[in-house]
Amino acid sequence: MNELIGKLQTERNLSDSELLTVLRTDAFDDALSAAADAVRRRVYGNAVFVRGLIEFTNYCKNDCYYCGIRCSSRSVQRYRLDKDTILACCDEGYALGYRTFVLQGGEDPYFTDERVCAIVSAIRERFPDCAITLSIGEKTRDSYRAFFDAGANRYLLRHETADPAHYAALHPAALSAENRKRCLFDLKEIGYQVGSGFMVGSPFQTAENLVSDLRFLQELDPDMIGIGPFIPAENTPFADKTAGSLTLTLRLLSILRLMFPHVLLPATTALGTIAPDGRERGLRAGANVVMPNLSPADVREKYALYEGKICTGEESAQCRACLETRVRAAGYEIVTDVGNVRRV
Ligand code: SAM
Ligand code: FES
Repeated sequence: MNELIGKLQTERNLSDSELLTVLRTDAFDDALSAAADAVRRRVYGNAVFVRGLIEFTNYCKNDCYYCGIRCSSRSVQRYRLDKDTILACCDEGYALGYRTFVLQGGEDPYFTDERVCAIVSAIRERFPDCAITLSIGEKTRDSYRAFFDAGANRYLLRHETADPAHYAALHPAALSAENRKRCLFDLKEIGYQVGSGFMVGSPFQTAENLVSDLRFLQELDPDMIGIGPFIPAENTPFADKTAGSLTLTLRLLSILRLMFPHVLLPATTALGTIAPDGRERGLRAGANVVMPNLSPADVREKYALYEGKICTGEESAQCRACLETRVRAAGYEIVTDVGNVRRV
């Protein structure tokens, strides 16, 4: 095996210049994904964890330049799901074998802390054996604490890019890398299992930025790392930018698996959007989580973060069955389990 890949596998680390070498060439890709798959099988066997994703609001007060549901986008038909609808999605998900629900949405001021806590406590009461994950953006430490006390135990917040100048190129001035990172450390301190991550191939991203992302992740030491290709969204400032590449995303998944053997690594919807077999290839490159959509079919198209998003026409049961087949074809098995991290 290549010396660099061997070193990455044994030391779980490389120098910046070595990482740049691996990031900039496709010469190591086969060796990388084989090594990543070996590590993934050692820690998790062939298990793939499923998380039921409920996209409960596409209102957002933020204006991120890349995001299809940014507040300036007038073409988006906005929607919110009420508590009963969210609970009905969880009922359906539970029957399909999901033991983790991920409530994701834009930063919607309608969902005050009180409303979020009421939803979380209702889910906690009805599904005591399930993990509740929130992904609702940047909040104060007190808000995060209130959601935790109401029964939420996981939180997904991608850092997006660790480099402050790159962050400023992707977001309006009201948003900063500093606050995003503050949120992540607050969440960890409160006791959440935290997921972070970034887009691959976002506009202006350099290989050096990616090294900073890996270094930030080493500092944060999250339980989950969500990465997916940037995909342009209509009516956004980045509508004409080029999408991130499948191969670079797969390469990064393998690097992440080798640097963080224990980590929960989703094969994301964005990966499945840029290539029909993107999620299967993601699993073979080291990913061990899939997050099928549990939102009601009539709102799915409206949560259009980017062009061509897959699974918008499917019912939850169809998505579940489709994924079962895909995961098995890739050589793995979906398990019905809360799917906790296995630190090694
Ligand atoms: N508001 C919450 C937050 O900020 O974390 C959750 C929703 S946000 C839309 C979820 C993730 O979608 C972001 O962290 C971002 O990485 C991803 N995303 C947004 N626009 C995207 C695009 N055009 N291509 C790929 N991923 C995108
Ligand atoms: Fe949704 Fe295949 S995973 S239809």
